[in-house]
Amino acid sequence: MSKTIIVSNRLPVRITENDGEYVMSPSEGGLATGLGSIYRDGQNVWIGWPGMEVTEEKDQQRIQQQLAEMNLLPVYLSQEEINNYYEGFSNETLWPVFHYMAVYAKYEQPYWDSYYKVTEKFRDIILSVAEPDDIIWIHDYQLLLLPGMIRAVIPDISIGFFLHIPFPSFELFRLIPWRAELLEGMLGADLLGFHTFDDSRHFINAVTRILPINASANVMMVNDRAVMAETFPMGIDYDKYASLSKEKEVKDQLRELKETFQGMRMILSIDRLDYSKGILQRLQAFELFLQLYPEYMEKVVLYMIIVPSRDNVQQYRDLRDEIDKLVGGINARFRTNNWHPIHYFYRSFPIETLSALYNFADVGLVTPMRDGMNLVSKEYVASRNQNNGVLILSEMAGASRELIDAIIVNPNNIGAITRAIEEALVMPEPEQYRRMKQMRQVVAKFNIAHWVKLFMDRLQEVKQIQQSMLAR
Ligand code: G6P
Repeated sequence: MSKTIIVSNRLPVRITENDGEYVMSPSEGGLATGLGSIYRDGQNVWIGWPGMEVTEEKDQQRIQQQLAEMNLLPVYLSQEEINNYYEGFSNETLWPVFHYMAVYAKYEQPYWDSYYKVTEKFRDIILSVAEPDDIIWIHDYQLLLLPGMIRAVIPDISIGFFLHIPFPSFELFRLIPWRAELLEGMLGADLLGFHTFDDSRHFINAVTRILPINASANVMMVNDRAVMAETFPMGIDYDKYASLSKEKEVKDQLRELKETFQGMRMILSIDRLDYSKGILQRLQAFELFLQLYPEYMEKVVLYMIIVPSRDNVQQYRDLRDEIDKLVGGINARFRTNNWHPIHYFYRSFPIETLSALYNFADVGLVTPMRDGMNLVSKEYVASRNQNNGVLILSEMAGASRELIDAIIVNPNNIGAITRAIEEALVMPEPEQYRRMKQMRQVVAKFNIAHWVKLFMDRLQEVKQIQQSMLAR
C-alpha cells in the first residue's frame, strides 16, 4: 500500500514552552484543515518543523512520540538554522524577491549554505519513511530544493510541489545568485502548482531563460521526465466559515459587537504582520478618507487586527513601529471624546472572534501590495450568510482573479482606496447582494477540499502520462 507524505516548513501543530513544559497547539491554518483528512489517514504522515528549538534529546524523543500519534514527524532545527535557513534565506532572501520587494533582499552565502543543509535534513527524514511508490506533496518557498534532492535518491517516486506565494517575473527572479539551483530543485517535482496563471507562466519563463530546458506550453522535459506547471487557486473550508455564525460563542460575541458599535459602520482589516500586506498605505487611505468625508466622523471605525509574525526579522520590527506611529497619529488627529477611528490589535484571535467580526463588518478591506492568494478575503465572503457587505480587494492578490465582484483596487493608489471605501459604504443593498452572492458561489465551489482533490488527481495523471511517454 502506498502512502502520502506531506511536507511543509511548519507542522500543523506548534510547540511552545510553558514553565519547562512543552505544549502543543494545533494550527487552524487553511492548509492544516485542507490536508487533515489526508495526513491523519492510515500510514500517511506530515513532516515539518514544530516551530521552536528543542535542545535536549530526551525532550525531542518525547515530543516525537506524541507527534507520532497524530501522524506527524518533526524536523528539529537548531537556533543557527532558524536564523539562517528560516529567518535568513527563506524570509530575508526569497520572501522579499518573490513579493516584488527586491530592495529588502539579502544575498548571504551563510543563508544559502544553511538553506541547503536544512533541506538535506528534511530529505533524510523523508527517506527514513519513504517507499518508491509513495506520493510526496511538498509545500512552499522554504523547501524549493527538496523535490530535486529526493528525486536524486528515488528517481521514480511521485512528487508534487505547491508554491503558496507568488512566483515573480523572470526579471526579479534572476537577481538571486542561486537562481539555477533553485529551479533545478523545483523541477525535481512531477507537478508544480501555483495559485494563478501568471505565477505558473513566470515560473516556466524563468526555467527556459535560465536553464537549458525548453517548454512546450506547460510541459518541461527534464532528463526524459515530463514535468508540468499548472494553476490551482487555493480555497478555504467554506462550510466551516458559513456555519460558524450559528455557534453560540459567535452569536454572543456578535451581540457584544452590536452593542459596542451601535450606529457605527465597521471596516475590517486582518493580516499577518508583513510589508507585503500594504498596511501603511491602507492606513494612509483611511486617514485621507476621514479628511475628505468628514460626515463619517463618529460613524465609522477601522477595526484592524495584525497577527504578530517573524518579529526577529528587522523589517518586520520596523514595520510594527511604523504602524504604531501611524495609528497613533491618525487617532490623535481625528478622535473625539466618544470615538476613536482605528481599533488596532497586535495579536491573534480565536476563530470564533474572527467569525463574529467577519459577520459584523460592513466592509472587508484587503489591500496587499502582493499576495499569493489571500485567504482572509475568502473567509470574509464565506462568513456573509446574509449576502450583504462589500469586499475591497487589491488587484495584486491572487484572490482578485476569482473574486471579480469585489471592488478591485491598486493598493498603491491611495486615492482609489479612499474612493473605494466611500463607494462601499454607500453601495445600495441590492448591489451588495448581487456581488456577494456571486463571490460566495465561487468560494463555496472552489473550496479547499476541491483544491486538494484537483491537485492530487492531476499528480496521478501526470505520472500516468510520463509512463505512457516512456512506453512509446
Ligand atoms: C505564508 C507562507 C507560509 C507560512 C505563513 C506564516 O502564508 O506562505 O509558508 O507558513 O506565511 O509564516 P511563518 O513564517 O510564521 O511560517
